[in-house]
Amino acid sequence: MKVLAVVGSPRKEGNTQVLINEVVRGAGSVGASCQVINVCDLAIAPCRGCESCRRTGTCVQKDDMLDMYLKILDSDVLVIGSPVYWWGPSAQIKTFMDRMFALVQQGGWKRLRGKKAGIVTPYGDTDPDTPEHLIGMFRQAFDHLGIDIVGTLGVTAGRKGEVAHNKEAMEEAFNLGVRLCKGPRCEA
Ligand SMILES: Cc1cc2nc3c(=O)[nH]c(=O)nc-3n(C[C@H](O)[C@H](O)[C@H](O)COP(=O)(O)O)c2cc1C
Repeated sequence: MKVLAVVGSPRKEGNTQVLINEVVRGAGSVGASCQVINVCDLAIAPCRGCESCRRTGTCVQKDDMLDMYLKILDSDVLVIGSPVYWWGPSAQIKTFMDRMFALVQQGGWKRLRGKKAGIVTPYGDTDPDTPEHLIGMFRQAFDHLGIDIVGTLGVTAGRKGEVAHNKEAMEEAFNLGVRLCKGPRCEA
C-alpha cells in the first residue's frame, strides 16, 4: 500500500502534524510505504475557475500541484489532515482540493475511484460538532469521486502539539493508519 498524507496546517509540529505522524506510524506498522507532504510548504495557487482543464485534462497553472497530481494518482490511500479554521478546512487544504478539480476531468476521476481515504482534523473547541462541515465537505467530495472514506478523526486540541498527550486520540490515529492499509489495493 502506498499512502500519501497531505498536511494542511502552517503551524509546524502542530496537532495536525502530530496526528498525521501517528496515522503514518500505524500504516507503516502493517507494511505501507508512506509519504507526508505539507501543502503549506508548496507553491499551490488557488484555482482560477477558467475550466480549461475540462478540455485538456490538466491545469494551466504550472506550479507544485502538478507533482501532487502524480503523487495522488500513484497512491492507494490518501490521508488528509487539516485543522478546523472557522468551522471549515484551512485555506491551504481548500486550495489543494479546488486544484484537484483538474485531475478529475477528461475521465481522470476513473483513476481516483477505489482509492481509500482518512480525514484527520484537530480543533480548539470542545463541541464535537465543530468539524462537521469540514468532514462533510470531504465526505461529499470523495463520495462523488468514488474514494472510500475509511475513517475520520476529529479531536479537541488547541495548543500547539497538545494532542500528543491525548492517549486515546493517538491510539485512534494509529488504528486509523492500520485500518486504511488493510484489505485489497485499489485496482483503478
Ligand atoms: C485562523 C484560525 C481559525 C480557527 N478556527 C477554529 C474554529 O472555527 N473552531 C475551533 O474549534 N478551532 C479553531 N481554531 C483552532 C485550531 O483549529 C486549533 O488550534 C488546531 O489545533 C490547530 O491545528 P494545528 O496545531 O495543526 O495548526 C482556529 C485557529 C486558527 C489559527
